[in-house]
Amino acid sequence: EKGGWSSFMAKEISEEPEAVANTLRGRVRDGEVVIPELDGLDELFAGVSRIIVIACGTAAYAGQVGKYAIEQWTRIPVDVELAHEFRYRDPVIGPDTLVVSISQSGETMDTLMAVKYAREHGAKTLSVCNTQGATIPRESDAIVYTHAGPEVAVASTKAFVAQITALYLMALHIGRVRGAISAADAADHVRELEAVPGKIAQILEREQAHIEQFAGWMADTRSVLFLGRHVGFPIALEGALKLKELAYIHAEGFAAGELKHGPIALIEPGQPVFVVVPSPRKSSEMHKKVISSIEEIRARGARVIAIAEEGDAAVLPKADEVLRIPLAGPFFEPLLAVVPLHIFAMGLATAKGLDVDQPRNLAKSVTVE
Ligand code: BG6
Repeated sequence: EKGGWSSFMAKEISEEPEAVANTLRGRVRDGEVVIPELDGLDELFAGVSRIIVIACGTAAYAGQVGKYAIEQWTRIPVDVELAHEFRYRDPVIGPDTLVVSISQSGETMDTLMAVKYAREHGAKTLSVCNTQGATIPRESDAIVYTHAGPEVAVASTKAFVAQITALYLMALHIGRVRGAISAADAADHVRELEAVPGKIAQILEREQAHIEQFAGWMADTRSVLFLGRHVGFPIALEGALKLKELAYIHAEGFAAGELKHGPIALIEPGQPVFVVVPSPRKSSEMHKKVISSIEEIRARGARVIAIAEEGDAAVLPKADEVLRIPLAGPFFEPLLAVVPLHIFAMGLATAKGLDVDQPRNLAKSVTVE
């Protein structure tokens, strides 16, 4: 039930902190990741030389975010593929390939068929799923459940942050099994993960009303662009997808570095562009590059809405609007930066008088190919 909320989507965004906290619950002990579901699979993980993540829609963007941390913490190369593209090109897979599927419902036919294909071709399969006993986890060798609770609104929100959390737990577990990451480093990442729910709650508390009001002012907008770099890139894609799905507005996400190779031609005066700004504390080089992307588009008249870390003073004079997120360690910003984008898409669709829970032409779970 919706409780006092105006929509399931509003309720589910408010549950993003819990979705992360519940996915972590019982899986961390003294700074170590403990995933009982993965007991007895050390040999399987030791034998993996390649990971392919498959999913559709928002779940695929969770996979794209996860790729950076999985590679870093396990030192296993990771590819992310749309499930419906995966099996139509004779992919090179075998017993040393781990195919990680991500699905909220566990019933998405495209994803299920890709998992079956992977198994039939000898790959190992691991399912990240939010629905106990669903078909995809039943078809997989291993399961890491997300505990986001039932998600009703068609556009996925709390499941997305739970999926990234589960992928990070999985990566830390595999990284430790393979000796690719030290106990101390893993413990640092676990601490960061444990701090995420409180930080998302802070964003909801401090920024939600502001973002909704601001989205309301943009109700007549016809096109919105989203830019990001590194882990901010899939977040830009997710921000654009949400706006298409919910507000029926043309929206596109780009890698900031790609701007000069084409998309900058789209910038005309007044064009709103969201920019996910990486932390200056982690990579001053990446931060500088994104700031210079902002300068380039602003010089051409773009209206820049930056999502930036608190205390990032360099952004303020460059952007028309700054949405603040709390400080977080490397890899953890996407779990925060996505929240303003979820609120924005919901706010804009609501301002247009649209049904945010049941957008036209879409279904929560697509059980046909
Ligand atoms: C789409 C939904 O059809 O399926 C998206 O509208 C979702 O919100 C995607 O991300 C994948 O669904 P699932 O259940 O496999 O995560």
